[in-house]
Amino acid sequence: MREANACTLSENTDASQQFLDDVICGLSQSPKTLPCKYLYDQRGSHLFDAICELDEYYPTRTELAIMRSAVHEMADRFGTEAGIVEYGSGSSLKTELLLEALDSPVAYVPVDISDQHLHAAAERMSDLFPDVDVIPLHADFTDHVKLPEFPQSPRRISAYFPGSTIGNFTPDEAAGLLERIAETCHRGGGLLIGFDLQKDVGILEAAYDDAEGVTARFNLNLLERINRELAADFDLERFRHRAIYNRDQHRVEMYLESLAEQTVAIGEQEFTFEAGETICTEHSHKYTIDGFSELAASAGFRMAQHWTDPEQLFAVAYLDVV
Ligand code: TRP
Repeated sequence: MREANACTLSENTDASQQFLDDVICGLSQSPKTLPCKYLYDQRGSHLFDAICELDEYYPTRTELAIMRSAVHEMADRFGTEAGIVEYGSGSSLKTELLLEALDSPVAYVPVDISDQHLHAAAERMSDLFPDVDVIPLHADFTDHVKLPEFPQSPRRISAYFPGSTIGNFTPDEAAGLLERIAETCHRGGGLLIGFDLQKDVGILEAAYDDAEGVTARFNLNLLERINRELAADFDLERFRHRAIYNRDQHRVEMYLESLAEQTVAIGEQEFTFEAGETICTEHSHKYTIDGFSELAASAGFRMAQHWTDPEQLFAVAYLDVV
């Protein structure tokens, strides 16, 4: 979810062909990149869960604490008999808190590109909230999301987009995505969204490069995955994880850095790396409240209310579609 690259999406190919095409395409560019969505195979997802538990990685626990302290005010924004469309379906604990606080919600629509996550989450939520129509939608939420028919019509449709995933898009891409969310929820609807705040560089860089090296393993797992699934021969001893805060762009940039001049084979193709050359795997943009409010305004929303933690590390905002 970094800058869109010039690679075309080949349609009608299977997932592993698409993975190969994307990897070849990303490594053929200068500077080299790899799409961050491939970080989350089974091992990657497991390592990401471990990242969320780290002392240094404040976003997950801080967002949860904000939800705990303000969920009733948030629920007032959704109003009675709400329909909730969740962008992603991985964050069930925060979603549970929200649904529990709502006044007679009628529908919950998780949207996810991973069928497995989607159905596991949907099943859990229908068990927990038997009066809510749970309607899983298997879709890429970066495209326009077309809502299903609702058995009971919601009074207002609000999206929920936790986890600061919005930060993994460039501001331009983020504005486009917010515009599509506004279209999905219509006038009168809204969006409850989490985003990470600008802060001391030391805190940011530690959050993305922890002392135990879990984040390094998570990032390097992408090369292991390419070795496993695409018959490549990356030598993991000769790459390292780097996280650098770009102060001009207000984002943490994640890289895999080649420690030597080397050649790597992926199937038939070879790629050469200079010593110190990097592959960019993800950007994580950090906002101010005002900056995010302006971004939201450019996409057809008005920030109605926002909540932060006492240290102002993270923010959750409710945006009205105007
Ligand atoms: N979406 C997470 C974030 O921006 C992803 C993330 C955390 C990540 N640590 C990482 C991605 C390290 C790549 C490498 O906070």
